[in-house]
Amino acid sequence: MSDSKVIVSLDFPDGKQALDLCQKLDPSSCKLKIGKELFTREGPDLVEKLIKSDFDIFLDLKYHDIPNTVASACRAAADLGVWMLNVHASGGRNMMETAIEALDKTTHKPLLIAVTVLTSMSQEDLSELGINRTVDDQVLLLANLAKESGLNGVVCSAKEANRIKNELGSDFCLVTPGIRPADSSSDDQKRIMTPSEAIAAGSHYLVIGRPITKADDPLVALESINVSIS
Ligand code: C5P
Repeated sequence: MSDSKVIVSLDFPDGKQALDLCQKLDPSSCKLKIGKELFTREGPDLVEKLIKSDFDIFLDLKYHDIPNTVASACRAAADLGVWMLNVHASGGRNMMETAIEALDKTTHKPLLIAVTVLTSMSQEDLSELGINRTVDDQVLLLANLAKESGLNGVVCSAKEANRIKNELGSDFCLVTPGIRPADSSSDDQKRIMTPSEAIAAGSHYLVIGRPITKADDPLVALESINVSIS
């Protein structure tokens, strides 16, 4: 189990590329995030292989379905041995509570966090869904619902971290993407923060992809980020 706050996002089209990168990384210096593309191609075998190599895995599959189905999927992920997984808070209280109850019965209980409003959604997108709150208020409402339902935290932008921390307390785990070291390209990310700014704003874990995966030396890039937040 690593105590690093950095979760390296394995946004690769296949397992070979992901494993090539992981061989260069040290499991005590980072955790790893596996999302829908890589999981759909490679399945649980890749997750198990990386867990056997001592990596903590955040399985980012954002479950959203009826409570029984989501709870069963969470149990299956816990049985794989993942460290963290997530659901959509908009699945509702019953879905989240049922998922937590299922995880309470597993021998290895991962952290369960929620996605609030996807950062790709604009105010107009919310209106079209019949939601007339501001994006920020909707994020807070769903984060609050996730906390009340017993979840461990939320995925959020580091720009939202301070407000959520103030409203929900510093024990509620905030996992933030959109992180860029000062000397890094912002790529397609619009609202970015440096690793140390994000930690100062209240982030517990930083999801970082390209600044590490596309670096000439991923290990050096990771170490320099770890140093900047230690
Ligand atoms: O390469 P980069 O650091 O931008 O990767 C960030 C990762 O976090 C990607 O997997 C992206 O899909 C994910 N993510 C994000 N913004 C969100 C939620 C997830 O960038 N709001």
